[in-house]
Amino acid sequence: MENQNVFNFSAGPAILPQEVFKKSAEAVLNFNNSGLSILEISHRSKDFVAVLDEAVANVKTLLNLNDDYAVLFLTGGASSQFYMTAMNLLGENQTASYLDTGAWSKKSIKEAQSFGNVEIVASSKDKNYSYIPKGYEVAKDSQYLHLTSNNTIFGTQIHDFPEVEMPIVCDMSSDIFSRRLPIEKFGIIYAGAQKNMGPAGTTLVIVRKDLLGKIERNIPTMLDYRTHIDKNSSFNTPPVFPIFVSNLTMKWVLENGGLEGMEKRNAEKAALLYAEIDRNPLFKGVAATEDRSLMNVTFVLNDDSLNEEFMSLATAAKCSGIKGHRSVGGFRASIYNAMPLAGIKALISAMQDLEAKHA
Ligand SMILES: Cc1ncc(COP(=O)(O)O)c(C=O)c1O
Repeated sequence: MENQNVFNFSAGPAILPQEVFKKSAEAVLNFNNSGLSILEISHRSKDFVAVLDEAVANVKTLLNLNDDYAVLFLTGGASSQFYMTAMNLLGENQTASYLDTGAWSKKSIKEAQSFGNVEIVASSKDKNYSYIPKGYEVAKDSQYLHLTSNNTIFGTQIHDFPEVEMPIVCDMSSDIFSRRLPIEKFGIIYAGAQKNMGPAGTTLVIVRKDLLGKIERNIPTMLDYRTHIDKNSSFNTPPVFPIFVSNLTMKWVLENGGLEGMEKRNAEKAALLYAEIDRNPLFKGVAATEDRSLMNVTFVLNDDSLNEEFMSLATAAKCSGIKGHRSVGGFRASIYNAMPLAGIKALISAMQDLEAKHA
């Protein structure tokens, strides 16, 4: 089905490539011509083990990972990684540093505080998280620096990862596979699947193996990364279908220019939409210009009383899911990898329709 009916701008679960939906639907009915559904096969079957192995290999190819890193597909969402990262890396008397760039950072900070000392290196709370703090110092003895690479709610994104001595632990839930990365800076990368990678239900975790096993803590088996590394993400039943769909998305990314291709497309799409926000006298952007997210574009109307009318015009232009998060208001257009240029153009046309009536 190439004639996409509605452009889904939701923050997550979110748009995936149309061909991924089509192949997923086929596999639900008949996986690999086996006469069985992907939903009913064993996670230990040869066919599924091949999917899992391919998914791991595709993550390694996309991010250019060497064997120092393990690739895991876990459950529990990115939210479980808020505590698993700290539980596995932060000793009771040690310090970890956190950059507070919004709601998700705040949650990761709260969880880490149960395990050791947390240093908040900087926060953009003073301006409702509309910018990314820079030029902060990180305690020399810190075990890691935790960052949220893209702030899904407020629409900010870290464009340059800082130079620090310690490994960076990064929540990349809303911009994984959207651009190239200086991978050597990262100790752990985690991402809930449901934005740029697949359906809800699995979380990608990339761990530099040498960071593990260094603290004295009795870690429950399921929460110890080493369990999942030893068993190739199959210590317990892994989320078979989300992994299958995530793998299809990664293949699509690879076939469409890899991360370099995504980066280029994403920059073009975001530039077009931000240019309209800046040009159109009815609208204004929420995030500081230099920190604008290429994934979640937040904007408001100067005159709130036009909100509903704009929503109707957007719906008429087949744009769905643009209502802003309650803590920001206004609008949020999530323009992940799979959002086609046609979707951006449709949204811009709705903005111009409103301008024609009111400017
Ligand atoms: C940046 C970020 N981190 C974490 C989460 C939470 O992810 P999950 O619902 O998978 O726990 C989200 C969800 O939107 C997010 O955007």
